Amino acid sequence: TPFKIAVFLSIVIFAFALVIFYIVDDDLNIIFSFILFFLATIVLIYYIVKRFFHERIKVIYKNIYKFQSASNALELDINKVEKQAEDWADAKEEELNTYKRDENFRREFIGNVSHELKTPIFNIQGYVQTLIEGGLYDEKINMKYLERANKSVDRMINIVEDLELISALETQENLLDIRPFNLVELIKELFEAFEMKASQMNIKLELNNEANSEMAMGDRNKIQQVFLNLLSNSIKYGKQGGKTKVQLFDMEESILIEVADNGIGIESASLNRIFERFYRADKNRSREIGGTGLGLAIVKHILEVHNQTISVRSTKDVGSTFSFILEKAK
Ligand SMILES: Nc1ncnc2c1ncn2[C@@H]1O[C@H](COP(=O)(O)OP(=O)(O)OP(=O)(O)O)[C@@H](O)[C@H]1O
Ligand SMILES: [Mg+2]
Repeated sequence: TPFKIAVFLSIVIFAFALVIFYIVDDDLNIIFSFILFFLATIVLIYYIVKRFFHERIKVIYKNIYKFQSASNALELDINKVEKQAEDWADAKEEELNTYKRDENFRREFIGNVSHELKTPIFNIQGYVQTLIEGGLYDEKINMKYLERANKSVDRMINIVEDLELISALETQENLLDIRPFNLVELIKELFEAFEMKASQMNIKLELNNEANSEMAMGDRNKIQQVFLNLLSNSIKYGKQGGKTKVQLFDMEESILIEVADNGIGIESASLNRIFERFYRADKNRSREIGGTGLGLAIVKHILEVHNQTISVRSTKDVGSTFSFILEKAK
């Protein structure tokens, strides 16, 4: 065995070293023989260790290795758990933020609604009180005040209807009635309905159909509401003697619809906010013109439930163009 060979070899080296040590009487040889002693001892120790302790050392090493890999794995596990905990905390925080946002939004919404309703209610109260306190018999004001009160009632009805529509769209309560309908017909009908309002502002209504089909897919009533709100805005925020142009463009499978006016336009800072509920650009001017700020929020909602989006480009004092897409009827 290698062990026996090693023992034999070291004995030989020892013997050789002894011989040199005793026989040769020279300083240099003493050093040389010591080196040989040293070498023999090393060889011997190495093989003794290897023979008698090798297995144990191996076991110790193995255990050290096992321990090390176990602790590595543990560290990895701890890291994983830590990461999971972090992720969980992040998710919860995000959830909480969403709740907070929703809650703020809800509060703001209720605040806005009551604010919007207060104005016509106080108006009505004012007119009615004046009538009660004797105005009823004053021929000069009684009819006028009753008419004004009636107008405020109309305004309240409008607001409540808008709110109802929004909440119905949000809760998806009312399912859409998607089917083919004639887009050009619908627009022409609406033009007729807006004729009076438009002529008051001396605004021309124009339709230009470049699509090779008049039939679109969608909920006709809802799309009618979209056009109603967009056309109403284009006249409300239009300029005397201006023009509202509805254009249909062909997009193979669908139709691109643009409602463009050359009215007062919207400044770019407001542009990404006009679709928010109750948002009204140019507060002073908007108050004069009248409205709630729900029209475009409704438009956005209706198109969203059609899986479409509304977009706008506008230049202050030049005009605005609202556009959206509807699928063609097959
Ligand atoms: N065609 C347009 N030209 C210029 N400004 C517009 C136009 N359409 C909308 N806006 C601006 O966007 C705001 C939001 O429009 P939206 O239709 O939502 O509300 P509104 O017209 O003020 O009120 P409502 O439609 O509820 O009666 C308006 O107040 C107005 O400032
Ligand atoms: Mg509007």
